[in-house]
Amino acid sequence: MSRLVVVSNRVAPARSGGGTGAEGGLAVAMQGALKDRGGVWFGWSGKTAPHDSGKADIVEIGATSYATVDLSQQDYDEYYTGYANSVLWPLFHNRIDLTDFSRRDRAGYQRVNALFAGHLQPLLQKDDVVWVHDYHFIPLGEFLRQAGCTQKLGFFLHIPWPPMEILLALPNHRSLVQQLCTYDLIGFQTEADKHAFLEYIQQEAGGEVLSGGRIRAFEQTPAVKVFPISIDTADVATLARRAENGAQSKRLKKSLLNRQLITGVDRLDYTKGLIERLEAYQHLLSRYPAYRGHVTLLQIAPPSRSDLADYQRMRRQVETIAGHINGTYAEFDWSPVRYLNRGFKRQTLMGFLRLSTVGLVTPLRDGMNLVAKEFVAAQNPEDPGVLVLSRFAGAARELESALIVNPYDIEGVAETLAKALSIPIEERRERWSAMFKHLSRYDLIYWRESYLRALEAAPCAAAAA
Ligand code: G6P
Repeated sequence: MSRLVVVSNRVAPARSGGGTGAEGGLAVAMQGALKDRGGVWFGWSGKTAPHDSGKADIVEIGATSYATVDLSQQDYDEYYTGYANSVLWPLFHNRIDLTDFSRRDRAGYQRVNALFAGHLQPLLQKDDVVWVHDYHFIPLGEFLRQAGCTQKLGFFLHIPWPPMEILLALPNHRSLVQQLCTYDLIGFQTEADKHAFLEYIQQEAGGEVLSGGRIRAFEQTPAVKVFPISIDTADVATLARRAENGAQSKRLKKSLLNRQLITGVDRLDYTKGLIERLEAYQHLLSRYPAYRGHVTLLQIAPPSRSDLADYQRMRRQVETIAGHINGTYAEFDWSPVRYLNRGFKRQTLMGFLRLSTVGLVTPLRDGMNLVAKEFVAAQNPEDPGVLVLSRFAGAARELESALIVNPYDIEGVAETLAKALSIPIEERRERWSAMFKHLSRYDLIYWRESYLRALEAAPCAAAAA
């Protein structure tokens, strides 16, 4: 089995050993594969430093090397805050209005990708397979090839691929897509993402779709395939079961006084539809007064990318509306919204999801949304809660027996919430078991192994050259 080299902007903390309990699923999946195969996890250290030390900082744990690179303040501003999170992130989530394009940031993004390729190349061994994650590193494959890398190179996009008309708004879109085509395998979350990509390739790049899942474009012939990311379903179910009797879940349950709990868990990001979600909840309380005093919305929203003005503005708006709902509807012994700007350990969170009557997952656009999947896996099979899920999350393509909503339709979401709070037990069990069955088969290990199999099977452009 070849060694695996994982590249992502965030690298799971190497020194935590057995884990802090706060890691996401991706970290667990990658660590599992690295443990089995040996290899390197490479990316940004999460720190800024005045000078490039010239080489990556390496920590070895078992057969895995965690190799990280600091960024200069300028690199951080232009590559991370600038091009990655003020251009690609909003644009790929259909928010052209929030993009802030500058040639300086584009150059910074390219420069950091070249810098990372330069640091990674010496760490590679002949038979490694390299798996690059997400929008921060679209150009990395091309820079690795230029540095003489002959290993197999795979890329997986965790966020949506935008419709062609939206991508055309990006200056230099063509050269970015050309860089993406340098990889031997390009993975997307959903068929819709792949479809949008193929539309661009055929209509804008003059490329063609070949048989066997490959394309020809920019004199490259990468394989293009869909791999919907998932969760470790069995592990989430176990965590949630264990957490149910834990101190935190008991405290939450006691505090609810038999009220029905609606839970949302999201990074504080404008793609998550938090404002619309709160408006829908407000509408529920105003339109269906019987729920007043009988439901609680627990919205967990850890801050994210807080140096960006769009995130600060959205946070203020969410605070205003959460405060407004509480001001309008709270009683001296009940507040409708519990809004928390902090994260929790995975186990605690899974316990909270298990206690919830409704999981409210209403992003305006989302590559997949693993909270939706975690909510399902965390439920008690005897008394499962109901998932209310946005049609614009990748997960909606799989979790068809959720209550699917249009998050822009505030009254529609309120109506669906009312329905979700009163679905009879048989229907709840039926809906839940269809989703749980799907997630038990298509779990995180399935995702990882099917990606790696496809990468190993994909012809390597460097070998053909
Ligand atoms: C999304 C992206 C990830 C990113 C994460 C957290 O899930 O797809 O690549 O790591 O958000 O964002 P941050 O900017 O804090 O890394």
